[in-house]
Amino acid sequence: MAAAAAAAVGRRLCILRLPAQHGARGYRAALCTQLTQPLLVQDLPAPRLQPRQVRVRVHYSGLNFADILACQGLYQEKHAPPFTPGMEFSGTVMETGENVSAVKEGHRVIGVTGISAMAEECVVDEKALWQIPDNVSSEDAAVLPVAYGTAWLALHHRAHLQPRETVLVTAGAGATGLAIIDLAVSVFQAKVLRCCPFSPVLMCSSLGKQVAWSHGDAVAENQDQVIAAAGSDPKCQLVLANGASHAVNYSQNSLREQVTALTGGRGVDVAIEAVGGDIFKAVLQSLAWEGRIVVMGFAGGKIPSIPANLLLLKNVSAMGVYWSRYQQEDFPLFSSAMSSLLQYGREGKIRPYIGAVFKLEEVNEAFNHVLQRKSTGKVIISMK
Ligand SMILES: NC(=O)c1ccc[n+]([C@@H]2O[C@H](COP(=O)([O-])OP(=O)(O)OC[C@H]3O[C@@H](n4cnc5c(N)ncnc54)[C@H](OP(=O)(O)O)[C@@H]3O)[C@@H](O)[C@H]2O)c1
Repeated sequence: MAAAAAAAVGRRLCILRLPAQHGARGYRAALCTQLTQPLLVQDLPAPRLQPRQVRVRVHYSGLNFADILACQGLYQEKHAPPFTPGMEFSGTVMETGENVSAVKEGHRVIGVTGISAMAEECVVDEKALWQIPDNVSSEDAAVLPVAYGTAWLALHHRAHLQPRETVLVTAGAGATGLAIIDLAVSVFQAKVLRCCPFSPVLMCSSLGKQVAWSHGDAVAENQDQVIAAAGSDPKCQLVLANGASHAVNYSQNSLREQVTALTGGRGVDVAIEAVGGDIFKAVLQSLAWEGRIVVMGFAGGKIPSIPANLLLLKNVSAMGVYWSRYQQEDFPLFSSAMSSLLQYGREGKIRPYIGAVFKLEEVNEAFNHVLQRKSTGKVIISMK
């Protein structure tokens, strides 16, 4: 799925400018005019506000895998062209509708919207905005809604992660992967095993407690000690530098064997799985007694099936997480996740990792950067 999408986006990288509509105040926006084709950057007329709506000058919009899938017609939520992709942003309130009380002109905010965030301006309901604390930058704030929101829901609400439990996350150097590592280590005090595809076996300590480096062999750890080995892969180095205690190569080595070795045969308590296909099965088999696996995504393009006997054998639980659905089905929980994340940011507990910033005019390059697996951490689009 991802490969097909990459080929489609990669066909043409140029961005066309269409003229602004005569007489209307315009703002620039990325526009998907035809599924699978490169986006255009076009001037759009500013819509009139409804009583509870807020107009925000967007500073940064987060790029998510889902935006790319939506522009390919491959996402579960379908949008008919023309539409502007983008489901999250940070920015400053420009104007408020007559019944808005939650925010005022000049407030810095993060916001969520199904589409339309990859633009200089975005109009949303006041309920979809949260104020950014003074000490949190607009760049960092733009990373919070989807990546950190999903990570929070997966670890805390779905898997009920407990302190000192072990966590395994796939696509760990991606936006959500690094958010999971950050929250698991810095907020929920877990131990994190991270998987990446390049280096052989790579392990090091987190939290400054490094004990030893070695290559390849099985390593066990207990709660007082972290024994480490090192490889050379940049993605693995990145996750290790960002809090993971171990990194495992899942394209060149058996993920199951490595996790078994790292956990002394026990397996992990919680796994957050984002790749799908055979990786999913290996992760499922790497769970400990009464472990929990959370299905987060299928970046590799293959939706796996679950052999029910694997759930039975070790009394494990399999569940899903779908961030945007919580906005409709359980808004108080959704909003409390956002508030908690902003509070962690205010307290300096979390460190969002931004791997690349693209200008709005470079939106197609940004899409390709993610599709070609070149990205690490969050990719954001700057409107400046
Ligand atoms: N359920 C939800 O609510 C929710 C929310 C956010 C994200 N997600 C999903 O979680 C996954 C990761 O999202 P993200 O925003 O963290 O994405 P991201 O930063 O773009 O990372 C995606 C990573 O997936 C890995 N990958 C494995 N096979 C791939 C392939 N064939 N093509 C492209 N990438 C591949 C790559 O890491 P390696 O090179 O290290 O393998 C890549 O860096 C996606 O599937 C996304 O749709 C779901």
